[in-house]
Amino acid sequence: MTQQKVLEIKNLNVGYETYRGVTDVIHHLDMEVIKKEKIGVIGESGCGKTTTMKTINRILPNNAVIKGGQVKFNGKNVLDMKKKELMKLRRKNVSMIPQDPTASLNPLFKVKTQMKDILKYSKEYDEEIDYKAKSIELFESVALSDPERVYDSYPFQLSGGMRQRVCIAMSLATPKDLLIADEPTSNLDVTIQNQVLNLIGNLLEERDLSAILVSQALGTVKKFVDKIYVIYAGTVIEIAKTDKLFSDPIHPYTIGLLEATPKLTGGGFSAGIAGQTPDYIDPPSGCRFRPRCPQYSDKCKNERPKLIEVEKDHYVACWGN
Ligand SMILES: Nc1ncnc2c1ncn2[C@@H]1O[C@H](COP(=O)(O)OP(=O)(O)OP(=O)(O)O)[C@@H](O)[C@H]1O
Ligand SMILES: [Mg+2]
Repeated sequence: MTQQKVLEIKNLNVGYETYRGVTDVIHHLDMEVIKKEKIGVIGESGCGKTTTMKTINRILPNNAVIKGGQVKFNGKNVLDMKKKELMKLRRKNVSMIPQDPTASLNPLFKVKTQMKDILKYSKEYDEEIDYKAKSIELFESVALSDPERVYDSYPFQLSGGMRQRVCIAMSLATPKDLLIADEPTSNLDVTIQNQVLNLIGNLLEERDLSAILVSQALGTVKKFVDKIYVIYAGTVIEIAKTDKLFSDPIHPYTIGLLEATPKLTGGGFSAGIAGQTPDYIDPPSGCRFRPRCPQYSDKCKNERPKLIEVEKDHYVACWGN
C-alpha cells in the first residue's frame, strides 16, 4: 500500500531580489510529508527554514523569486495555483504558526475582530456560530488565562507570549490537513516554551494532523516528531527517524549541530561549527558545506552531493559517505 503524500516538494529553488542581485537561498530542496506524519526541520539561523515554509502556502515576501521546482499539496502544485485556489489552500488545508506573531496580527483590530474573520471565512461553521464562545474555547485550549480579556484586547495590549498563543489558537481554529509551526516558541520564556510545545504536541496527537515543526534547537523538536530533516544553506543534507538522527548522525554538519546544542545538564556550550552560512549571492559550488567541512575532497568542490539512502529511512547528502 502506498502512503498518501500530503506534501511533496521537489527540486525547489528560491531566492530574493536584493540590491546586490538575486540571491540563491533554497537550492534543489526536496521534502515530503505523508499523512499524519510529524516532521522536524532543523538548521542554523539563516539556512532557509522560514523561506521553505512560506513557499508551501505561498506567503513569501514580494522580493522573493521562485526559480523552479514543485510544491505539491495533496497532488496539486501550489506554485501553479491561481489566487482563488491559494486562498482556499490557506483557509482549508495549511495553517501556519508564524515565527513572528507581532507581524502576523493586525495591530489595528482587536483580537475578537480577527478571530471572527478567521472563523467566518473558513466557512467551517454555520452562520449561527457564537464567535465569542468559540474563541474563548480556543484560547482556553492554548492555556491563555483570562481569555475574556484577551478576546477584547488589541494585540499591543498583550505580551509576546500571549500574542504567540493567540496565533496558535487562530491556526487551530479550523480543521486543517497540515500544520506548520515555525519556531513556535521563540518569543516565550523557558517555562512557557515547554507548556506551549506540549500543547502543540497534544493537539497534534488529538487531531491526527500532519505537521512540520521548525526549530533551530534540536532538543525542542525531538519529543514531537517522527522524522527530522536537517537543512544547511537551503539544501537538505540529512533525513532520519528522530532516534536515529540523535544516535547515529552521519553528515559532519549534523554532528556539529548536535555537539553545539547546549546541554542542560551542565558542561556549557561546545565550540559549535566554525564559520557561518554562505553569502547567498555567491554560494560555494559543489557541496555548500565544503568551506566549513573538516573532511572535504576535490569532488565536494565540483559536484553537488545528492541525498542517498545509506540505510533504511536514513538519507545523507555527502561525498564522504
Ligand atoms: N525578504 C527578504 N529579502 C532578502 N533576503 C531575505 C528575505 N527574507 C529572508 N532572506 C534571507 O534568506 C536567508 C534564509 O532566511 P530564512 O528566514 O529562510 O532562514 P531561517 O532558517 O528561517 O532562519 P532563522 O532560524 O533565523 O529563522 C537568509 O540569508 C535571509 O537573510
Ligand atoms: Mg526562520
